[in-house]
Amino acid sequence: MEDGNKFPMKEKNIIYFDNAATTFKPYRVINKMNDYYLEYNANSHRGDYDISFKVDDEIDYTRDLVKMFINAKRKEEIIFTKNTTDSLNMVVFGYFLNHLKKDDEVILSSSEHASNILPWLILSVKKGIKVVFVDSTLEKLSIRDIEEKISNNTKVIELAHKKGILVVVDAAQSAPHIKIDVTDLDVDFLAFSAHKMCGPTGVGILYGKYSLLNKMIPFEFGGGMNLTYNDSSLKLLDVPYRFEAGTSNLAGIIGFSETINFLNEIGMDNIEKHEKYLRKYLIKELEKIPYIKIYNKNCEGSIVIINMDGILSGDLGLYLNTKNICVRSGKHCAKMGDNKEDTVRISLYFYNTYEEIDYLIKVLKNKKEIEEFSK
Ligand SMILES: Cc1ncc(COP(=O)(O)O)c(C=O)c1O
Repeated sequence: MEDGNKFPMKEKNIIYFDNAATTFKPYRVINKMNDYYLEYNANSHRGDYDISFKVDDEIDYTRDLVKMFINAKRKEEIIFTKNTTDSLNMVVFGYFLNHLKKDDEVILSSSEHASNILPWLILSVKKGIKVVFVDSTLEKLSIRDIEEKISNNTKVIELAHKKGILVVVDAAQSAPHIKIDVTDLDVDFLAFSAHKMCGPTGVGILYGKYSLLNKMIPFEFGGGMNLTYNDSSLKLLDVPYRFEAGTSNLAGIIGFSETINFLNEIGMDNIEKHEKYLRKYLIKELEKIPYIKIYNKNCEGSIVIINMDGILSGDLGLYLNTKNICVRSGKHCAKMGDNKEDTVRISLYFYNTYEEIDYLIKVLKNKKEIEEFSK
């Protein structure tokens, strides 16, 4: 039997530095999903038989684990969605579409991901609200960095709440890396994706304060979210089930419980610490290469953004691919900040190693070969 904590993708000849896009999954998460398909493949809430009860229990178990993972007050505050994008759309079009009025303002950082900008811009067209951007520099590009600032300075949120302002956090790049405590942060809504933290694709989380979720209107209607209906009335299920219309990604949600157990066993503090050392080491080694420009040296996230003098970022990405190194090049998904230049993004996760960084550095030193490649 394989060691469940190992990653099948780590056994391949690939050095993966694109963890901001998605992460590898350990065997135990994959096995947990397989168990569902092999042993108790049924729908939830639908059957009066054992394997369907088992599915309900497992889904409930994941909800409980997510609640504890982010320290929510009750498990009803956890909604299963498809991903962060889905979670943010649910908040914007389920809550804010119905509670904001013309000329109300929404403040966003200009380095937000498209998923936390475009829904608001569409809302501004639909409702006439104003979207105000707070400039952010590349040094502050990491959402994790912003998230950390908020946690150290909860007065910002207190101040927002005193003024009746609600706080929505896109935690897609923080939940995988640092401990999140929604009760301590006192955020109103928080969104993240399982696939960016060793979990399955197609599973996202929307956390919302219970009182707010009770005022949110579903934007999808159908099976699994209604209690009764006829041609003139509709009674919805309670929160959170009213927001989970249709058959969910059951295998994924079930697999996600194993992800949370896995991350808890390692410890989010250890993950944060290890990534910090890896990042420091990567920057120290990159600094020794005179023709490498590092854009975000002082940012604390696990993402390092670089370029090589005279080489297009896309060419560098493709060259690294020939050496089995996976990075992301181009404009990425946060297009409003001052990151107008195309860059190469190296994004780390706790399973990356110093040896992998050494290999990357060695390859980046092949300047002549890279120049030849990019001709
Ligand atoms: C900060 C941030 N927000 C949102 C998203 C969207 O995540 P998903 O594609 O899982 O919906 C990403 C993905 O890269 C992200 O980095």
